[in-house]
Amino acid sequence: MTRVVGMSVGRNRRGRPIQDGGAAIVEDGEIIVAISEERLNRDKYSPGFAAALEYCLDSEDLSVSDIDAFVFSNCLGYPLTPDLLDRHVEESGLDIPQSKQVICDSHHRSHAASAFFTSTFDEALIFSIDNTGNVLRGDYGRHHLNGLERTSIFYGDGTEVQLDGRYHDECSELGLGAAYKYVTLYLGFKSYKDAGKVMGLAAYGDGDLAEYRLFDDDWNCLIESNPYDRAGAVRQCLVDQGFDPGPRKQGTDSPSSLQKEIAWLLQRELERVLIEMVQHHVKRTGCQTLCYAGGVALNCVANTKLLTETPLKRLHIPPAPGDYGQCLGNALYGYYIHRENRDWTKLTHTYLGRPYSDEEIEAALHQTSADIVSWQPESVERFVAEAIADGDIVGHFAGGSEFGPRALGNRSILGDPRQKDTRDYVNASVKFRESYRPFAPTVLKERYTEYFEGKPRPSSKFMLLAQPIKAEKQDEIPAVVHANGTARLQTVSSDGNPRFHAIISEFDRLTGTPLVLNTSFNLSGEPIVETPSDALSTFRRSGLDYLVLNEYVISDRDNGDD
Ligand SMILES: [Fe+2]
Repeated sequence: MTRVVGMSVGRNRRGRPIQDGGAAIVEDGEIIVAISEERLNRDKYSPGFAAALEYCLDSEDLSVSDIDAFVFSNCLGYPLTPDLLDRHVEESGLDIPQSKQVICDSHHRSHAASAFFTSTFDEALIFSIDNTGNVLRGDYGRHHLNGLERTSIFYGDGTEVQLDGRYHDECSELGLGAAYKYVTLYLGFKSYKDAGKVMGLAAYGDGDLAEYRLFDDDWNCLIESNPYDRAGAVRQCLVDQGFDPGPRKQGTDSPSSLQKEIAWLLQRELERVLIEMVQHHVKRTGCQTLCYAGGVALNCVANTKLLTETPLKRLHIPPAPGDYGQCLGNALYGYYIHRENRDWTKLTHTYLGRPYSDEEIEAALHQTSADIVSWQPESVERFVAEAIADGDIVGHFAGGSEFGPRALGNRSILGDPRQKDTRDYVNASVKFRESYRPFAPTVLKERYTEYFEGKPRPSSKFMLLAQPIKAEKQDEIPAVVHANGTARLQTVSSDGNPRFHAIISEFDRLTGTPLVLNTSFNLSGEPIVETPSDALSTFRRSGLDYLVLNEYVISDRDNGDD
């Protein structure tokens, strides 16, 4: 038996840990457990791996001595050296012998491994695209002046992931992820982590700025690299083309038409360059299969266009394509690096957290000071379906948590997609977030074609594609129709998540609609809940009507007395 643990140790130039830490264990080719650090220390985007490693080892009843290799990558600086890694490990208080420490020599190779080795393909093109990975060349103290991993092309074959080329890697050159970051900040958002909000906002643009470019015909970014004035660099890029959009925008709660149009332009440019790159590499290699990771692969609108506007036949994106997935990529890289044969372990689900027992739930209920009542209905699936059909909003907690940023049923807030009010209510009173942000539906896989254009794709299992909703169905499910008539949907099958499938089937029996509104179980700015106590805490601070913890239903005493 071979067991490999993956983690990442990114540090910035001042030695501060960078974001999105976690740990994962691969055992004989199978991912047996994985979790992000933020879920455990409740600090969103948290770096580090100490709590995640402890969680992974404890949940499988393992110790350091049971692990054959601990595989690490980093980000921002040059790739790790053995001495530097040993120092990081020691500083983290872990007792991992240097003989078991393995280095993944590239942040983008780790992304590539997370994509290729979770696919079912024996050969594939692999794209790793994010804001920045490791330093490739240059020795400048200022990170942005170096040549960086921005857009990397790999080729996967069996157990190997070989570098095939790079773009945007000259010194002081921006790439696709960096351009998205710059424009996100220009638009007035606080962090590049708000890129998903910009993608949602882009749907409200009309294309008034269609004549302008952020990348040239050779895919070079037209925005100058300037981390001291990113907004000024974006403005200058458009000024150079004869249009002055003014200084950095203030406030994003009620975006102006200019903010919507610039978001539209950014999204159009991202899609244009990605589509052209895929077309080029498919033509060059003859390979019509793509595995794709890095933070840019979270852009589900662009992902969908890769399937509809290029010759690609197959696309696989792992459930955590961003830097949370580094731990998984490292574990898989470390597992395959010395192997000749591939173990064809199919990633059928992302529920890679540990389940919680009835005793743990009862203990959490016992400890809460909230004035609540709890009970166990005869059928919890039927209870949830009936509550949603009655217009209630339900926090649903069951089994192991999802690995990655999407809630896929086990840590989800569920609502009625037929009521337009559901979206506004959940935005304003449950999750406390901007009113223009869309909500996703989860649909029974076997009923997909009744509601959505095209056919169900494997990446929809992980909520990574945005598909057009059939025109005649949009009035039936207004709470999950985005401004452009699409939805970032999840398909669920009876073997992928039997309980969630049963809830939606019951909802369909009651209402004739085989889908529900599904959003992650967290408040704005907080990580998704992991434990029963986290779920209770979120329930108390939100406008949820019911909380479901495995077989238990919880409500406020007032609500329960109705
Ligand atoms: Fe990355």
